[in-house]
Amino acid sequence: MSSEWIGQLRSIEQQFDRDRESVADLRSLEELKNRFLSRKSGLLTLQLQSVRNVPSAERAEFGRVANEIKGRVESALEALQQKLAEADAGAAVERERLDVTLPGNRRRIGHVHPLTLARQEIEDIFTSMGYTVEDGPEVEKTYYNFEALNIPAGHPARDAKDTFYIDDVVVLRTHTSPVQVRTMEKMQPPVRIICPGRVYRRDAADATHTPMFHQFECLLVDEGITFSDLKGTLERFHKLYFGEKTETRLRPSFFPFTEPSAEVDVSCVFCSRKGCRVCKYSGWIEVMGSGVVNPKLYSFVNYDSSRYTGFAFGGGIERYHALKYNVNDIQLYYQNDMRFLEQF
Ligand code: PHE
Repeated sequence: MSSEWIGQLRSIEQQFDRDRESVADLRSLEELKNRFLSRKSGLLTLQLQSVRNVPSAERAEFGRVANEIKGRVESALEALQQKLAEADAGAAVERERLDVTLPGNRRRIGHVHPLTLARQEIEDIFTSMGYTVEDGPEVEKTYYNFEALNIPAGHPARDAKDTFYIDDVVVLRTHTSPVQVRTMEKMQPPVRIICPGRVYRRDAADATHTPMFHQFECLLVDEGITFSDLKGTLERFHKLYFGEKTETRLRPSFFPFTEPSAEVDVSCVFCSRKGCRVCKYSGWIEVMGSGVVNPKLYSFVNYDSSRYTGFAFGGGIERYHALKYNVNDIQLYYQNDMRFLEQF
């Protein structure tokens, strides 16, 4: 049996079947649902409401067909809903997929500065020989930096053009030697210390000078210490630091706080004394000042100079590092250029 009324129902059903072909996502599905089933304006809803206009003879059949179509539309919508939701979840998984085999972002981590490495290496050598590491102030009294080291007022080494004066009696220490005096004030012999640290001089910066640099000071005082102990210690230290083939040479020199004094050279680490640009074709490179502790210092610290003798030396940490690794400009230690720093 067919009537105009049923025909209308069928054409809405066909329209639904056409429209749902183009539904590709959850949003257009929602639109489709509203178009046919919304409570106020849904095409099917309106058609169902028109049941009261259907002649009573046809009403039962109309109702049956209408309900069947509504049921079909609803289950078609539900099936579509499920299919699209699954596809959507699959797409989300695909979007968020992680490739755990991709290399990670490497974190750049810092490392110890080459001057710290050199200082630690020097400290290790001396502590292995029984020395302890001492510290002293960088802002120092002229008494410790000069007087007690036998550098009296008026001495050219105190000149304000070489020294950073804070006031008349306070300076930025110009060397680590004041720690010798401070240590001897603190303890009686035997004394065996090294003191690494910053020192300051009014030098213009160039490849071999910076107004601040680092030194390490060594002091040994005990009974029966002689110049040969100084030489033996320097030789051992240089072999351990630069390598077993390294030779050490002493040349007469002068320091107010040591007597006798010696300039310390090592055989050129680059040419093994054959002669090269670094050693200016002499085969030797100057690295330190040294000497037997001047007995005059003992009177400042109440040591018995008839009983004790000692030796001292001091060198630049930049210089020791630069020589070992052939660094030709010590400014590099202070410029924070990663390409330089990362090499050590
Ligand atoms: N203090 C001296 C300098 O800075 C080095 C030195 C230390 C010399 C100890 C002798 C003994 O040049």
